[in-house]
Amino acid sequence: MTKDGIILFLLHIVKRIGIYTSGGDSPGMNACIRAAVRTALAFDIEPYGIRRGYEGMIEDDIQPLNAASVSNIIQYGGTVLKTARSKEFMKAEGRAKAAENLKKHGIEGLVCIGGNGSYTGALYLQQEYGIPAIGCPGTIDNDLAGTDFTIGFDTAVNTAMDAIDRVRDTAESHGRVFFIEVMGRDSGYIGLYAGLAGGAEGILIPEKGNQFEVLIKHYEQKSRKKEFSIYVVAEGDDEGKAVDLSKRFLEHYPESDTRVVVLGHIQRGGKPTASDRILASRLGAHAVKGLMDGLSNCAVGVVKDEILYTPFAEAIKGKKELNDNLWVLNEMICR
Ligand code: F6P
Repeated sequence: MTKDGIILFLLHIVKRIGIYTSGGDSPGMNACIRAAVRTALAFDIEPYGIRRGYEGMIEDDIQPLNAASVSNIIQYGGTVLKTARSKEFMKAEGRAKAAENLKKHGIEGLVCIGGNGSYTGALYLQQEYGIPAIGCPGTIDNDLAGTDFTIGFDTAVNTAMDAIDRVRDTAESHGRVFFIEVMGRDSGYIGLYAGLAGGAEGILIPEKGNQFEVLIKHYEQKSRKKEFSIYVVAEGDDEGKAVDLSKRFLEHYPESDTRVVVLGHIQRGGKPTASDRILASRLGAHAVKGLMDGLSNCAVGVVKDEILYTPFAEAIKGKKELNDNLWVLNEMICR
């Protein structure tokens, strides 16, 4: 074990690896799969694709991949390997079956593309069956420690920003107040970035409390209340969802013309941005490189443009700090 809990398999030469996507999909996962497959092939490692994450591992939905298997996929959202949130894998019997299938196929290392739950699964396989794994952060939420950005976050923010721009047009025409809900179960990253990029009048995210009060004060100070307003709400905000907040707003201003837009899973799909494709390609390649170097039990990330490996336990538990500079900047300019 190295000093940070990353396990080092000395003199372990990996000949065959399994690649899978798990949990919520995110745009750029295909680019990550492609990079992992082609990096493996470049080093004479045989890549196998495991379909539907841990479900496919349990059901033996495992196939060899080649360079052509990942042709013409970099531009697509979703994941060609499909994904699932497996209940069976939470049980010891499910994991035993998964480990047995991996062994049957001679798979000696795993590239796990997903979020917190996916990393936890890989950690179990490592701890219970000694199967080395490296995680690639794939989630639109950008809530994983050990990387500045996760695969899919940039695309989701751009999708949300585009939606805000469109809502802005109609909001302005009608002089309406819109509450736009973005994804982010426990994290305000999409809310903060999309709200800032979309010029929202207010952003309500779980990391910052009492923002409804600030919103009301801010609205109160508006010289022309008939003007439109856009408020971005993260789905995980402690003060409520967009629909709850719009109701509270109407209690304060019954005369206001208020509407709610919930962007939902639209943010999870679509063409990945160049940024996401490049990030995903780097991470996929370095996950394989990590396995070749004998690393396991860790997630690969990019921090300040450098590749970094972080122990799973830290990546899972370590709450990613919000970028406070952006929050302060937004507070100053969202008038
Ligand atoms: O974790 C990514 C995410 O998109 C969250 O932002 C959201 O709360 C959740 O997944 C939705 O999950 P599902 O696709 O299972 O409805």
